[in-house]
Amino acid sequence: MRNNLIASLALLSVCIPAASQGHPDANFDEAKVPKYTLPDPLTLQNGDKVKDAHTWVNKRRPEILAMYQEDVFGHSPAAPAKLEYEVVSVEKQALGGKAVRKLITLSLAGKKVNLLLYLPAGATKPVPVFAGLWFAGNQTVALDPGVPLSEEWSTDRTAHKIIHKTAAESSRGKCAQQWQVDQILAHGYGLAIVYYEEIEPDIPGALTYGIRPLFFKPGQTIPLASEWGAIGAWAWSLSRVMDYLERDRDVDAKRVALIGHSRLGKTALWAGAQDTRFSIVISNESGEGGAAISRRDFGERTKDLNTHFPHWFDSNFSQYNDRENSMPFDSHMLLSLIAPRGLYVASAEGDQWSDPRGEFLGAVNAGPVYELLGKKGLGTDRMPAVHQPIMHDIAYHIRAGKHDVTAYDWDQYLKFATTQWK
Ligand code: GCU
Repeated sequence: MRNNLIASLALLSVCIPAASQGHPDANFDEAKVPKYTLPDPLTLQNGDKVKDAHTWVNKRRPEILAMYQEDVFGHSPAAPAKLEYEVVSVEKQALGGKAVRKLITLSLAGKKVNLLLYLPAGATKPVPVFAGLWFAGNQTVALDPGVPLSEEWSTDRTAHKIIHKTAAESSRGKCAQQWQVDQILAHGYGLAIVYYEEIEPDIPGALTYGIRPLFFKPGQTIPLASEWGAIGAWAWSLSRVMDYLERDRDVDAKRVALIGHSRLGKTALWAGAQDTRFSIVISNESGEGGAAISRRDFGERTKDLNTHFPHWFDSNFSQYNDRENSMPFDSHMLLSLIAPRGLYVASAEGDQWSDPRGEFLGAVNAGPVYELLGKKGLGTDRMPAVHQPIMHDIAYHIRAGKHDVTAYDWDQYLKFATTQWK
């Protein structure tokens, strides 16, 4: 396994970042995972047990949220008093007549971000929508040329330069299989998508190109130790997407499922934890800093995150490097912030870096909060075999194959959403 541990932090394909395995001593042997004890999501900081929904909603949930704001993702600014946006175009016969396509420009503290919205053509009432951020320009999901090419960000490592250029026409439709637009539309649902690097380029040191500096106090040049990292900025923007969806009469904003893969899975979880308007949250292989239990020494660790991706989290988070056992929280508590709404955690067998068992155990241990709120958790602590999804109000599957979002994953998410939205 060790020979495979090649640090490749760059975005290798236009669609999915390479799953970096940049820690030469990373453990991939289940027998070597030391024992650990998880903090109890249902015990208040003063030691009292949470026995009812009222105490959960008014006391324990805010305590857990505050821990994640302070020590992990950082505090985000309040929502703007009024969302500024412009509907730039509405194409009624997109994708060969299957979809209505809207292009919307959101203005986030003055920075323009492009939202692409596909809705099923001929819908007679507002439709539920899947919403998410994506690794490449909107044109990579769009199968026809109505969507403008995005800007692209990359680094020239030798020259220590951040490069900003316009995507090539050849990138059009490149990631379409990861979004299954036809399937989504055929189910009567829509898709709302934003290219995440328009919010902040995913490069350490690219802070000044994103929205975070637009919120600095006079004289401020870097975020405070407990202020938002890039994941916080991406997540905050998902709430602005929701602000727009609430204003669009063709959308049923009470039924919006947030979906994210990998680092954008971490982002979806954080957005869904803070913003209860999202009715479902789907974490596709979100791994360390997402659904996977941090205390488990398996695959990626906290220190790896803070070393390779220092811009993602707040700087307080690095106090837990090599000290995961001292966290007053763990991923099951992040997941419990989604309760009682639908939560789907998914893993891939070939993505051991994300610690599939750790992701499963995160979902298992969020269960007691769901049960307290009258919902059904996974109901087992036995990890299912590949392609044997468990679907209650918390759902989980592991599929064969590598770090990716596949048609198989989408089949499960569509089934889950349809059940949740009944
Ligand atoms: C790296 C990183 C992970 C992350 C992944 C991704 O592998 O170590 O934490 O989830 O990139 O976003 O694809």
